[in-house]
Amino acid sequence: MGLKEEKHWLTIDLLTKVGRNDPCPCGSGLKYKKCCQNKEILTLEDIKTLYSNQHNIRLKERGDIEGIRKSGSLVLATLDLVELKIRPGMITEEINTLVHDFTIKNGATPAPLNYRGYPKSVCVSVNEEICHGIPGERVLKDGDIVNVDVTSILDGYYADANKTFFVGTPGTDVRKIVGVAGESLRIGMEAVQPGNKTGDIGWAIQRYAEGEGCSVVREFVGHGVGFEFHEAPQIPHFGRKGEGVVLVPGMVFTIEPMINLGKKDLRILKDKWTVVTVDRSLSAQFEQTVLVTEDGYESLTPFEV
Ligand code: MF3
Ligand code: CO
Ligand code: CO
Repeated sequence: MGLKEEKHWLTIDLLTKVGRNDPCPCGSGLKYKKCCQNKEILTLEDIKTLYSNQHNIRLKERGDIEGIRKSGSLVLATLDLVELKIRPGMITEEINTLVHDFTIKNGATPAPLNYRGYPKSVCVSVNEEICHGIPGERVLKDGDIVNVDVTSILDGYYADANKTFFVGTPGTDVRKIVGVAGESLRIGMEAVQPGNKTGDIGWAIQRYAEGEGCSVVREFVGHGVGFEFHEAPQIPHFGRKGEGVVLVPGMVFTIEPMINLGKKDLRILKDKWTVVTVDRSLSAQFEQTVLVTEDGYESLTPFEV
């Protein structure tokens, strides 16, 4: 998929809420009625300009997508390596060393390191930790769950994915929350197709996860990704159908629902990063970097959920 000359069925009326006398969203400086209102069909180049001006969303072209996909392959290989090594008795710092060394060895940079002052190369969040756990001396025990969130920068392109792993033998609660978190991501991705809206993703996730008696974290959301770590738009994992921005081909963003077994409320620990459930209930998460295609989506960090 590229953003060249192709015409696209998405029309400006569908993509904007512009009035006839408003400045044209294409950025021409003319009134909408004197400019694009009469253009029935947009080219992908038109949509690119429109999304940049209106939403600060940077649509990706073919070469960008190849770059993000390549970065995504490295992220997946990193997660596979971690999965292979995880065992009870390990400290979370060892996961940081694995991720850091493997990323560097493959010619990439770990995006978390020094990002807004974050001190490590990966986020490692255990049990009641929702996200942004800082690797350190915490010892993984049999029956724990551990989320490992990896973001690599390869040839300037960011890809972002995470998985929650079982440590040793999983108990009933742990299997439940990991199952619901994985299925939440799958259901979110299934809502991705051009013409749908960002809000449709969160709506589908919330309906499913709450239907399972779990809760959805509100304060942390999915995000545009590729040229930077966190770009527009935000992708909430809750909300109403029909809210937000229309999805168009070339959009790349993460979906990364954080699902709690208990209540959705969170607090941040004194280290200023680690996010935990207030009720100390288990929390699990899976994340992929997703491209909107002409007829649906393609994960650029694909794994089975
Ligand atoms: N990888 C996280 C995400 O999915 C962000 C981590 S920011 C860090 O968006 F600074 F904690 F690394
Ligand atoms: Co992310
Ligand atoms: Co991430």
